[in-house]
Amino acid sequence: MNETLLQTYDLHKRYRTGKDSELHVLKGITLKVAAGEIVAIVGPSGVGKSTLLHLLGTLDRPSQGRITWQGRDVNQLAEAQLAQFRNKTIGFVYQMHHLLPEFTALENILLPGLIAGQRMAALTERGRRLLSQVGLEARAGHRPNELSGGEQQRVAVARALINQPRLILADEPSGNLDMASGEQLHQLLWQLCRANGQTLIIVTHNRELAQRADRVVELLDGRIKSDEKND
Ligand SMILES: Nc1ncnc2c1ncn2[C@@H]1O[C@H](COP(=O)(O)OP(=O)(O)OP(=O)(O)O)[C@@H](O)[C@H]1O
Ligand SMILES: [Mg+2]
Repeated sequence: MNETLLQTYDLHKRYRTGKDSELHVLKGITLKVAAGEIVAIVGPSGVGKSTLLHLLGTLDRPSQGRITWQGRDVNQLAEAQLAQFRNKTIGFVYQMHHLLPEFTALENILLPGLIAGQRMAALTERGRRLLSQVGLEARAGHRPNELSGGEQQRVAVARALINQPRLILADEPSGNLDMASGEQLHQLLWQLCRANGQTLIIVTHNRELAQRADRVVELLDGRIKSDEKND
């Protein structure tokens, strides 16, 4: 077994929904993820998959419980340190790409690297290599609205990888794509993460894709219903 990359202890998330009402979404999630593992998260709509991913990605804080990265409690970090940690350590791929419309494909890919303060020459070289790995060399200068949905998502994948993050969090990255493009996108994510030994946590409604992960974690009623390794 590889080293543990991240671990959650009894994570709870409650959303305030009114003056004195709240929604208790996550009710004690304890999860250990090893470096290099590919984990699929499944469960019915509204169960809290995106909520969990947000907590793992440090975009939101748990109401209760802890998340540690290689033993370090990340929620103890101040906001600025946390932003820096996130930028360097985690790549995000959402259902909607969230590319910036004013920037070209290549520029969108480079942005997290610029934020991280990477040198322009090396960064651009890396960006171009990623563009070619996602099959879009010829689209470097296109703006998002000049790309197909599948191409936009592939740009988003390249952007997520630019800082060589240890963890990729993907929330139904193929949710808006047709079957074939969705399949292609998943394969690409898989391949790139495997090739670089990166850890991938992916939320998907597609059972077949989930079965191809190293492990499937199923959520139900705010808890982990099952957590099984695939052969
Ligand atoms: N900011 C918020 N404030 C209040 N309630 C919220 C908030 N965000 C999410 N919820 C509620 O929390 C529950 C879990 O939402 P979440 O988005 O995590 O579900 P999900 O499992 O990702 O669903 P889907 O498969 O449809 O994407 C839902 O019932 C949702 O309405
Ligand atoms: Mg969701």
